[in-house]
Amino acid sequence: MATYIVLLGSPGAGKGTQADILIEQTGLAHISSGDLFREHIRSKTELGQLADSYMSKGELVPDDVTIAMVKERISMPDCERGAILDGFPRTPVQADAAKIMLNELGSDITVVPYITVPDEILIARLSGRWTCRASGHVYHNLYSPPLKEGICDIDGSELYQRDDDTVETAKKRLCVYAEKTLPLINYYRKQNRLVEIQGNQPIDKVTEDLLVALDIKE
Ligand code: AP5
Repeated sequence: MATYIVLLGSPGAGKGTQADILIEQTGLAHISSGDLFREHIRSKTELGQLADSYMSKGELVPDDVTIAMVKERISMPDCERGAILDGFPRTPVQADAAKIMLNELGSDITVVPYITVPDEILIARLSGRWTCRASGHVYHNLYSPPLKEGICDIDGSELYQRDDDTVETAKKRLCVYAEKTLPLINYYRKQNRLVEIQGNQPIDKVTEDLLVALDIKE
């Protein structure tokens, strides 16, 4: 059976950072709903225009369009062995939809690592984040700076600051997370799929804990 891992955690908890590392270690596909929306915004699609009107305010994009977009992505051939879901599901409605779409593929969610980090640290992480324009690789001006300022170590593309990484929008995203996404903690705990990971540690230590939780040897 394919392996589907849901990375849960607040904005800035390190889901994208860890997903980039885990796909190298596992060969699984990476599905980031935020990256998919940003790609639509860059390509100026109708969906991108709609998503931007929510993302710029720190609100969630409506469930129906989000679910349809992820369903299309998960049916692609590179997801046949499984995928790391980063930023999806984010509401109970999306969690139910994720279960249905994976069941239709003859699979289910394998494990849900929940990366926890205190709120005051999250704001500092988000407001200091730099993202690579080509592939979304993430850096931080203090905690994980690139070798050359403004340039991605991995693909040499330009680094930029996301529009929703201002202190004000980051605070709004944390409120939306508490209201809409926190119920998923109990949702997956009740299913015995949740594994708590301490995210306020150096990046490589968080990876180490994740690999143990996923039962993967380095
Ligand atoms: P999305 O792109 O998913 O953003 P998010 O969930 O807010 O998560 P982030 O990307 O901000 O954080 P992360 O946990 O990936 O942290 P990262 O690794 O980058 O969503 C954006 C928007 O799109 C949403 O607000 C919503 O509007 C919309 N959207 C997306 N999915 C949706 C859905 N399913 N439904 C509806 N709407 C949706 O790390 C952050 C920083 O910290 C980096 O600078 C990094 O270098 C640094 N860092 C990481 N780990 C560590 C560490 N251990 N120590 C020190 N620094 C670290």
